[in-house]
Amino acid sequence: MSNVQPSASLPSASLPAASLPAGSLPTIGILGAGKVGTVLARLLIGSGYRVLISGSGAPSKIDLIIDVLVPGATTGISAEVAAQADVVILALPLGKALPLDGREAIPRDELRGKLVIDAMNFWWEIDGVRDDLNDPFTASSELVQELLPDSRVVKAFNHMGYHDLDEGPVPAGTPGRRGIGIAGDEDADLASAAKLVDAAGFDPVLVGTLHDSVLLQPGSELFGANFSADDVRATAERFPTTERGLELEALRATRGSTVPAA
Ligand SMILES: NC(=O)c1ccc[n+]([C@@H]2O[C@H](COP(=O)([O-])OP(=O)(O)OC[C@H]3O[C@@H](n4cnc5c(N)ncnc54)[C@H](OP(=O)(O)O)[C@@H]3O)[C@@H](O)[C@H]2O)c1
Repeated sequence: MSNVQPSASLPSASLPAASLPAGSLPTIGILGAGKVGTVLARLLIGSGYRVLISGSGAPSKIDLIIDVLVPGATTGISAEVAAQADVVILALPLGKALPLDGREAIPRDELRGKLVIDAMNFWWEIDGVRDDLNDPFTASSELVQELLPDSRVVKAFNHMGYHDLDEGPVPAGTPGRRGIGIAGDEDADLASAAKLVDAAGFDPVLVGTLHDSVLLQPGSELFGANFSADDVRATAERFPTTERGLELEALRATRGSTVPAA
């Protein structure tokens, strides 16, 4: 995509200045060179961003696939990608980012001070049975934020399937433009994430805090959604009344926690 105009659904007046410097576009790092990582890389390169991307190992393992699928992206090891990027998107399996053995699987030091966009989900077929990643009291992005206490985590790009991400982008203002829910705790970081969502070709829809991001997770109505921005917003708003919302409310009532009301 190129020449994507600011989103109609998220007027810049509704958010404070983004946490990233205005002017030249930030460099985007993507950890994970699979289905989602390569699609996001392609979309952002199409909007003029410099994109760095890594897989789990040496760049030579992904150089060919990146040449073919994402011409223009630069490969590196994850630590280099994280160090050189202004914003880093996590597009690897959640269970790999948060391994059971506690090993450091993503470069925490290089992510320090940065905006980290969490596109990951707990998916037991991939991640295995992991109650620690599927705790009803804690959104998985909160676990990522705990892992990266010196980074600023925003959830985005997680609920839409990669085919829809690939095929959905249209310029801002196009009727029915697809919406992507984003959740986070700092307005300026949400504004920065919203710009990226817009640049990728979707309308950003703020759905709440990182704690609220359970409404974007598997099990929620929004998970898998390829909806217009208005429908994403309406679906987020009715979350507390859905089966999953009511189930979480019942569980959380026992702990005095709250169910998000977008
Ligand atoms: N598939 C979708 O439609 C979709 C949509 C939205 C969000 N998501 C989420 O996005 C994440 C990735 O899904 P996917 O479908 O793209 O998976 P995928 O196709 O299996 O790709 C995963 C990528 O992550 C890499 N990786 C593994 N461990 C890593 C590490 N420690 N550091 C850096 N990269 C590492 C893998 O590299 P190796 O091959 O070298 O192991 C691979 O390139 C998941 O959390 C998923 O829930 C998926």
